[in-house]
Amino acid sequence: MGRDVIVACDFSSMEDTLSFLGKFTGRKPFVKIGMELYYAEGPAVVRELKARGHKIFLDLKLHDIPNTVKKAMAVLSRLDVDICNLHAAGTTAMMKAALEGLTRPDGSRPLLIAVTQLTSTDQEAMERDLLIKEPIKDVVMHYAKTAKAAGLDGVVCSPLEAEAVHGACGREFLTVTPGVRFSDGDVGDQKRVMTPAEAKRIGSDYIVVGRPITAADDPVAAYERCVREFVD
Ligand code: C5P
Repeated sequence: MGRDVIVACDFSSMEDTLSFLGKFTGRKPFVKIGMELYYAEGPAVVRELKARGHKIFLDLKLHDIPNTVKKAMAVLSRLDVDICNLHAAGTTAMMKAALEGLTRPDGSRPLLIAVTQLTSTDQEAMERDLLIKEPIKDVVMHYAKTAKAAGLDGVVCSPLEAEAVHGACGREFLTVTPGVRFSDGDVGDQKRVMTPAEAKRIGSDYIVVGRPITAADDPVAAYERCVREFVD
């Protein structure tokens, strides 16, 4: 899979999601299904969007003991999602177990990427609540290298970290980056943002874009603008 725009379908029901995606009559966007939609609608929403021709990043961020994650990943793999994810903090053993669970009898599997430190965690919270005293930038890079060593395909990271991740883990190691905004658009609650064109320049592999597309007056035009800036 090459560079692509992933639309974050942060809706609370299948109905709202289908009504939004129904506007896309041409190119079918790669979509991200997160916890809210998945917990509301379950596997049916994944099957429905797959049947409609969408590629799917199932963003459930698994984090549990290796055996539990392995079995859960086997279920997600049978749903035929394209990308799924977990927390690198679950350790190498959990990441390796996840890969085993994901791998189908024919050897194929969805891509598996890791969340490093959530962008909502800052240095102070990490030191106080997690007792991790290293600079957060070093922690993110360490988690990325650990994910790569465990055999994962990439990480979710800020576009501002994508170049450093590629430097440390290689060009083929995928960087999936949220926090994307148009140069003339609302930033909203995102703190550190980049335009699709900048994300392309720094070598991001996939951008995850939510409100700049879902809340646009013309979502299809906003999506096509992202594709023009980032993919073409
Ligand atoms: O609407 P917006 O473009 O900000 O949506 C970004 C999407 O990426 C949301 O689904 C959000 O939960 C997700 N995300 C993020 N920052 C992270 C990880 C995930 O914004 N560090």
